[in-house]
Amino acid sequence: MHNEMKTSFLAKPENVIYARTIAVGFLLNLNLEMGVLNEIKTVISEAVTNAIVHGYGSDPSEWVHLNMKYDDEAIEMEVIDHGIGIEDVEKAKEPLYSTKVDEERAGLGFTIMEVFTDWLDVFSTPGMGTTVKMKKKYYVR
Ligand SMILES: Nc1ncnc2c1ncn2[C@@H]1O[C@H](COP(=O)(O)OP(=O)(O)OP(=O)(O)O)[C@@H](O)[C@H]1O
Ligand SMILES: [Mg+2]
Repeated sequence: MHNEMKTSFLAKPENVIYARTIAVGFLLNLNLEMGVLNEIKTVISEAVTNAIVHGYGSDPSEWVHLNMKYDDEAIEMEVIDHGIGIEDVEKAKEPLYSTKVDEERAGLGFTIMEVFTDWLDVFSTPGMGTTVKMKKKYYVR
């Protein structure tokens, strides 16, 4: 079994809901458990929110991309922005590290993404943008 999708949307807060709804819709065919679907919704929301808030500084004219695919064993998700990029990825991934603590950000987004997936990698170039790639294994019920 193999399937792929790609979608793009403007960097507006309301499109976080669009992204996670589309993600769940794409995966319906896999008949996943509700808990797994909720974890996927959560990690998509975290990555897309980061792209909007950090990558683009909430500039609603910019585009965020979500690519997903699955095979028999795992689901792969990619959230891409062409925004500001991350200077030090290792530091950004540390729990409680945030460049926006003053704005009530906990610095837990990457930690949540790591906990709810089996594999996470961040590719980023300052001034060029960021790609967050995640893989999650699943089991057929
Ligand atoms: N797409 C991105 N573009 C630029 N910087 C990013 C991006 N994603 C994350 N960052 C940087 O990594 C830091 C850590 O991200 P993380 O999601 O863990 O925490 P946060 O977004 O600051 O807080 P929270 O997710 O808990 O609201 C951010 O504060 C930001 O500096
Ligand atoms: Mg975050």
